[in-house]
Amino acid sequence: MSSARYLEISKMGKTFPTDTGGFEALRDVQLTIQQGEFISLIGHSGCGKSTVLNIVAGLEQASVGGVILEGKHINEPGPDRAVVFQHHALMPWLTVYENVELAVAQVFRGSKSAAEMREWILHNLNLVGMGHAADKAPHEISGGMKQRVGIARCLAMEPKVVLMDEPFGALDALTRAKLQDSVMAIQAELKNTIIMITHDVDEAVLLSDRIVMMTTGPAATIGEIVEVKLPRPRDRLALAEDQQYNHCRHQVLEFLYSSDDDNSEELEPSATIESVQTAVDVSTDDTVIKNSSNQAA
Ligand SMILES: Nc1ncnc2c1ncn2[C@@H]1O[C@H](COP(=O)(O)OP(=O)(O)OP(=O)(O)O)[C@@H](O)[C@H]1O
Ligand SMILES: [Mg+2]
Repeated sequence: MSSARYLEISKMGKTFPTDTGGFEALRDVQLTIQQGEFISLIGHSGCGKSTVLNIVAGLEQASVGGVILEGKHINEPGPDRAVVFQHHALMPWLTVYENVELAVAQVFRGSKSAAEMREWILHNLNLVGMGHAADKAPHEISGGMKQRVGIARCLAMEPKVVLMDEPFGALDALTRAKLQDSVMAIQAELKNTIIMITHDVDEAVLLSDRIVMMTTGPAATIGEIVEVKLPRPRDRLALAEDQQYNHCRHQVLEFLYSSDDDNSEELEPSATIESVQTAVDVSTDDTVIKNSSNQAA
């Protein structure tokens, strides 16, 4: 099969039953995603972004149409798709290592030896800079660090498709910038296909190959798609002055402001690129984590 039609959201609609009748949240959502593409979903609160993601995850069923991954119809969750939620729930009684182990054992039991599994878990924790905290309990680490463990747990399952619902939304600007950079580096190495929901315009432009902008519901659908053709690896400081970067950013802001004035304040960029970059550059890893433990979670 061609990788150009790797994941297809096909004529998808979703109507939720409510006490007062059906509520049509989504109508005719159509999107074809290539293998290895990074897609951001952006749109006003309540337009249906999480519903789209949950249907791709198999956690929710489409009412009309559906999702096809590598030629197969998706109608339930599977190890080929892993979700990173906004607030990652780690099992509080398990260590960082054991939290990742739980997911890895589910996928690789029978195919990896105990030693291979251990090596794989530590490799993934190292990818997000959390190898040193493997034996800590979740209550001993900051919000940003928990989020990194959640991302490691997701990647360790080697999902074909990574689904992220506002993964950095609850984090302070410094931690968010560091995690965005980690995710870009990891995707460059592993070539996962990623769909990420975000409210942050700068984040969407920095990370994405395409930004999919949804109309306001009910019966929400895809309004416009912005292609971000910036070469990778991307450097947030250099991009602040880049004409193409600013053009993409402007296109997204224009769509969002024109689609609903009442909600526009929630979609403004969360921090200037320059301020975040400067802060990251002058901080050691420890300083950033210390800051995040004060502000995040
Ligand atoms: N189980 C449900 N039953 C009824 N209506 C629902 C249900 N789940 C979601 N909705 C409605 O569907 C619409 C889309 O919800 P969804 O959570 O997908 O929005 P969203 O774009 O993710 O919003 P946000 O940015 O605030 O997270 C909303 O109007 C919501 O109230
Ligand atoms: Mg949502």
